[in-house]
Amino acid sequence: MAILIGDIAPDFEAETTEGHIRFHDYIEGSWAVLFSHPKNFTPVCTTELGYTAKLKPEFDKRGVKVLGLSVDELKNHPAWSKDIEETQGTALNFPLIADHDRSVATKYEMIHPNADNSLTVRSLFVIGPDKKIKLKIEYPASTGRNFDEVLRVIDSLQLTAKHSVATPVNWKQGEDVIIAAAVSDEAAKAKFPEGWKTVKPYLRIVPQPQG
Ligand code: BEZ
Repeated sequence: MAILIGDIAPDFEAETTEGHIRFHDYIEGSWAVLFSHPKNFTPVCTTELGYTAKLKPEFDKRGVKVLGLSVDELKNHPAWSKDIEETQGTALNFPLIADHDRSVATKYEMIHPNADNSLTVRSLFVIGPDKKIKLKIEYPASTGRNFDEVLRVIDSLQLTAKHSVATPVNWKQGEDVIIAAAVSDEAAKAKFPEGWKTVKPYLRIVPQPQG
């Protein structure tokens, strides 16, 4: 059965480059990113993992635990990590799951048999502190993902979880936002006492709430 936004992220146990983990215990109370890449020692994956390692301080700032998943064996990870450091300037600094038996990849439907029978596609899940799936993206093996976009979505998810707003097209941290449709004008007066701009009755713009 497909894993959908709003579903509880399936729990699992796995060996990683940072030891054995039980996923739900590992992410307890945090936001998390779980992403698969098709194969160690391949070019696009090497750039993706190096860039994600470079972004670690940004994920930390947002309270997000990052986990990569590979169907390669654990013993193959250290040599590849060295390559990542050598070619991308940053070594792996987050756990990489060694999903050799593909049990996690199968649970998370990361293998798309009509694309490849044994390797994962580039799946990525953002999971909230309530352990529910907040974002799900899937890219083919030939296309590297945009991890700056993943951070942008996390900013939106964290903002909209806290305030009664939604974020418009191409929104970035600090830009104006939209008052959630479920908030009446009456309720909005209390939530946004500084006022808002009504473009249409269903499109009400306010500065991004702080805090
Ligand atoms: C890559 O990371 O470059 C890659 C991996 C698997 C299939 C195709 C490309």
